[in-house]
Amino acid sequence: MNSDIQSIIASMTLEEKAALCTGASAWSSTPVEHLGVPEMIVADGPHGVRRAADVGTMIEASLPATCFPTASCSASTWDVALIHQMGEALAEECIALNVDVVLGPGVNMKRSPLGGRNFEYFSEDPYLAGELAVSFINGVQSKGVGTSLKHYAANNQEFRRMTISAELDERTLREIYLPAFETAIKKAKPWTVMCAYNKVNGSYCAENHKLLTEILKEEWGFEGLVVSDWGAVHDRVSSLQAGLDLEMPGPKPRHTKAVVEAVRSGELDESVLNEAVRRILGIVFKAAETSKGGKFDTAAHHALARRVAAEGMVLLKNDGLLPLKNPQRIAVIGRAAQTAYFQGGGSSHINPTLIDSPFKELQKLAGNAELNYAEGYSASGESNQALVEQAVQSARSADVALLYICLPESKESEGYDRPDIDLTPQQVALIKAVTAVQPKTVVILNNGAPLAVGDWIDGAAAVLEAWMMGQAGGGAIADVLYGRVNPSGKLAETFPLRLADTPAHLNFPGENGQVRYGEGLFVGYRYYDARQIPVQFPFGYGLSYTTFAYGNPKVSTTRFKDVDGVTVSVEVTNTGSVAGKEIVQVYVHDQKSGLVRPQKELKGFSKVELQPGETKTVSIKLDFRAFAFYHPKYKQWITEDGEFDILIAASSADIRCTQTVTLQSTLELPSLLDRESTLRDWLEDERGHHVFGPLFQQINAQMQAIFGGGEGGEGMGMEVSGFLMDMPLLEVLEFQGNTLPAAPEEMVAGLLAQVHDKGQ
Ligand code: BGC
Repeated sequence: MNSDIQSIIASMTLEEKAALCTGASAWSSTPVEHLGVPEMIVADGPHGVRRAADVGTMIEASLPATCFPTASCSASTWDVALIHQMGEALAEECIALNVDVVLGPGVNMKRSPLGGRNFEYFSEDPYLAGELAVSFINGVQSKGVGTSLKHYAANNQEFRRMTISAELDERTLREIYLPAFETAIKKAKPWTVMCAYNKVNGSYCAENHKLLTEILKEEWGFEGLVVSDWGAVHDRVSSLQAGLDLEMPGPKPRHTKAVVEAVRSGELDESVLNEAVRRILGIVFKAAETSKGGKFDTAAHHALARRVAAEGMVLLKNDGLLPLKNPQRIAVIGRAAQTAYFQGGGSSHINPTLIDSPFKELQKLAGNAELNYAEGYSASGESNQALVEQAVQSARSADVALLYICLPESKESEGYDRPDIDLTPQQVALIKAVTAVQPKTVVILNNGAPLAVGDWIDGAAAVLEAWMMGQAGGGAIADVLYGRVNPSGKLAETFPLRLADTPAHLNFPGENGQVRYGEGLFVGYRYYDARQIPVQFPFGYGLSYTTFAYGNPKVSTTRFKDVDGVTVSVEVTNTGSVAGKEIVQVYVHDQKSGLVRPQKELKGFSKVELQPGETKTVSIKLDFRAFAFYHPKYKQWITEDGEFDILIAASSADIRCTQTVTLQSTLELPSLLDRESTLRDWLEDERGHHVFGPLFQQINAQMQAIFGGGEGGEGMGMEVSGFLMDMPLLEVLEFQGNTLPAAPEEMVAGLLAQVHDKGQ
């Protein structure tokens, strides 16, 4: 194929090459018929295939497809095998619907719970998002259908989403906002990557050479094509130069013409265009290898969507009411029981093949119980006392009340951020009124992102986070309520107590065209840990109908080389009376580091299924990166010798066992000493210490004599070594005056030469 591609490129006219690099329509690439280059059709995802009936138009009803749960729900499964299966099902639908590439998954970090597209993204943690993306991509691509990993990069809000500049430092970019992309690229090789609308540090992602070429293609070895987000290209020539291969949507005759002219005038090297063409052709031909057409199994996919939904739901509170024990009179309250709220607004909006009614699905499992429906709250969000009173009546005369609460659409969607993280006042009033008369109340929540729960939770016997649960979510809720499925989902994002407690609160959504990522590395639990801020429900939290004990933790070795990594294992026992699944999480805490680090970071997890009384050993391998951090001065991920605690946990706030290990770094790093380095820097640097140690003794003695003073009152009353340590060596030498054998500048230059020579 490669030589074919080369010969096709050689046969293409400049105009044809330029045209290929921009779409032919809303959802298709440009074919070159006489050379046998077919069109490639793409469709939105990530949690379903939104295939426009006519690929030529942007706004068009899409063909029916399975609407799986959105990413906040699927992420809460922490189940990589299940996500893989969902990916396979998505690919089968793509094949049936004649789609070559599905536009997803989205792996941006949930920087603020206000982000309008948080429902489409996996997590606040880069490790978890990366691993889930790998399964998703592998699942889809195992069937010969492509994916588009999006939105690269730092796409974390909707406010001014097409122009805002995310201002962040290199380390934060590398450790928080890029790793999910990096992991997915390296481990799963997505066919395409979609660049984001926004700017990063002043440069549009679509025209960002550092992001698209230096990091993505050169450093991470990405071999696929980079596609623009729809309408993200501003300057076609500079976007090509930056590494953006395919512009979508098209056609854009002005852009194509600009490319042709730029090549003719010498402004754009034709080899740059050829490289984009080569990448596009590679994917177009790969896509063509999978023949399309046929049907997908709607019933099987609906059933799979139900499983994903049930596995992703998170039981937030349960005082023993759940699972339901065959209550005979059930008050079913809330419009979301009749009209399922199961997906978010925007480009990921799916035309479902079927929609489960939560009420009807409940009825199927409720046997002979009498179900009484009350609307509870209005769709508009306006308060309606009559609805509350009707619900209270119904709840009072029932054995249990099930409150189905969904956020109004105005509160979360692509295109705008959330105004707050609260339920509507009428919903809060409804919950309080119902729980006041019926203590046996379950609150079922449908929303795509965290809520500030508020004091209404005190009155509820149980709370189930059911998310945007996909088209089969109504049945999944019933499965969980009746214990047909033992809930095992855990939160992939923190539920704070208040919006004001959240990491980005003072820097969201920015102003004057910029949003400053002032919290740096401290996103999600990393922030709450560091600031010791209590939260409503921590990252990694979720209840089950059974209980799990952790025991006998072990590490494969207590001293290891960074490149070898270490394996940690723990025995998990189901100590309850029903089968269940536990998500074991492994966090790493660096006891001492050269740069500030979060208190702990997720570096491994595993979901394990256990029968009552059963014990299984869970083993998790921790590699180099589990211990490393990105050092902006070395411009690479580094490890440092020292001790690390490996925390084996049931949630980020529930550490069950700790193992301490000693890491030996194998890196030979150059010294960072320079003219501004302080005495402390010199002494802490291995080579610096070696060459500077003898001189230090001398300086110290002299400085003690000059400044140390003493009982008699001479001197300046300072603790000399403390004062000296943070002075640049150069300045300290200046104080030595004539006692030095050479001028201070020369001496420092000489020492630096010795240090750096040694490092070469
Ligand atoms: C969204 C993308 C989407 C594209 C095509 C854009 O507005 O940001 O996520 O894939 O439209 O619908």
